[in-house]
Amino acid sequence: MEIGLSPLDTKKLYIESYGCAMNFADSEVVASIMAENGIHNVATEEEADIIFINTCSIRDNAEQRIRHRLKALRHNKKQNKELTIGILGCMAERLKKQLLEEEKLVDIVAGPDAYRELPILLSEVYDGRKAMNVILSLEETYGEIQPTRLNSNGVTAFISITRGCDNMCSFCVVPFTRGRERSRDPESIVKEAQQLIESGYKEVTLLGQNVDSYLWYGGGPKKDFKKLTEEEKAQSVNFADLLDMVAKVSPELRVRFSTSHPKDITDEVLYTMLKHENICKYIHLPAQSGNSRILDKMNRTYDRDWYDGKLKRIRELMPDCGVSSDIITGFCSETEEEHEDTLDLMRASNFDFSYMYFYSERPGTLAARKFEDDVPEEVKKRRLSEVIEIQNELSKRKNKAREGQTFRVLIEKESKRNKDEWMGRTDQNITCIFPKSNYKRGEYVEVRIDRSTTTSLIGVGVS
Ligand code: SAH
Ligand code: SF4
Ligand code: F3S
Repeated sequence: MEIGLSPLDTKKLYIESYGCAMNFADSEVVASIMAENGIHNVATEEEADIIFINTCSIRDNAEQRIRHRLKALRHNKKQNKELTIGILGCMAERLKKQLLEEEKLVDIVAGPDAYRELPILLSEVYDGRKAMNVILSLEETYGEIQPTRLNSNGVTAFISITRGCDNMCSFCVVPFTRGRERSRDPESIVKEAQQLIESGYKEVTLLGQNVDSYLWYGGGPKKDFKKLTEEEKAQSVNFADLLDMVAKVSPELRVRFSTSHPKDITDEVLYTMLKHENICKYIHLPAQSGNSRILDKMNRTYDRDWYDGKLKRIRELMPDCGVSSDIITGFCSETEEEHEDTLDLMRASNFDFSYMYFYSERPGTLAARKFEDDVPEEVKKRRLSEVIEIQNELSKRKNKAREGQTFRVLIEKESKRNKDEWMGRTDQNITCIFPKSNYKRGEYVEVRIDRSTTTSLIGVGVS
């Protein structure tokens, strides 16, 4: 870069990420953009001249966590007056200028589509000004940028395939923080997968808020397939096509994807999963609620029957497919009977695991504008604990039934609890722990399961 960025050359960066996998993937894009400008990543905040915090706004407590973190950073800034602090990601996008006003130690505020501008924002800071860019884009996908892998185990990696979300679920802040949905050029996705396998990686997870609505037609904001021109249709690539392309990169490369929206996952995608052994038989299919009136109010665009039907279809085609879900309890006006429907959905769906939350009103969302957040917090929390209890029971039972069976596991890293054991995951995305023996990281191992807990399988390698 020209424009007097020379002071950047000697600077060191520390990035901290919160929120979903997409944020973690974005931080790797940020690290790459910064490295191009001579600013390299360091492993600890103590060594850094610049600290970027990539933030999440999904629930109030996610933002509170970041506010606490910023409080702690005041100490760092006192110790080092030259320290630059940047807030990136969803909270930056949601709060914009307000963040600079409320958090005096913050120098840079950059939204999710503004990361190419970071070197320029930094040079503004070195010129003595605070800097902000929160412009959302209709095209930006950072397609050609090769991410710098951070905190990597060298085995599994994320690849972003879409950005933004057009769904407008009434509770959700993401469409406001991430902007309109757009798909990334499939060639750049395949190229990234190829580079990963060449560098020894064995698993990729294709990421998007709603991966099933991926549609490449030459670039730009999401369009309905029917609205494409003949030329666009001819070169179009949908999610099933993309899965097929990535699966073909190498039979040694496992392919996962997340998140699937129940309204968009198609038979074509399920058949593509069946066609390739290396596409993991695991689907994250967030239900949110088991009651059709609540689902309608959430603007999820499917009802309970539709959800049940999708799940049935998945299990018809792939009986041992792992399925997980997201659940929100205590959404606006949810009655006790409607909550019972969610408990019923949990029992009937037999999810392998779920991410479960109580409803947190987000400013600016449809629900915040139109509905009253009228379920008392203690009721939301009690309902949540009931949902969690059922899920734990299901997970425990499902894992118990896996004892005695053998699963193919990809070794990811050392177990947190015991340095003599490996941690890896089964095709269905269940964590598996077993003795290291002579196995190596990145190897596929057949593991016979001897014991289990709610969250993991414990066994021994037999291959
Ligand atoms: N795109 C994904 C979800 C992204 S957000 C999908 O549509 O499924 C991850 C999860 O956070 C959501 O599935 C939902 O369960 C939860 N969530 C989102 N907004 C929330 C809110 N306001 N309160 C509580 N949980 C929320
Ligand atoms: Fe949010 Fe709904 Fe989009 Fe998921 S699909 S990111 S819940 S608006
Ligand atoms: Fe959070 Fe933004 Fe992801 S709000 S969940 S980091 S898209």
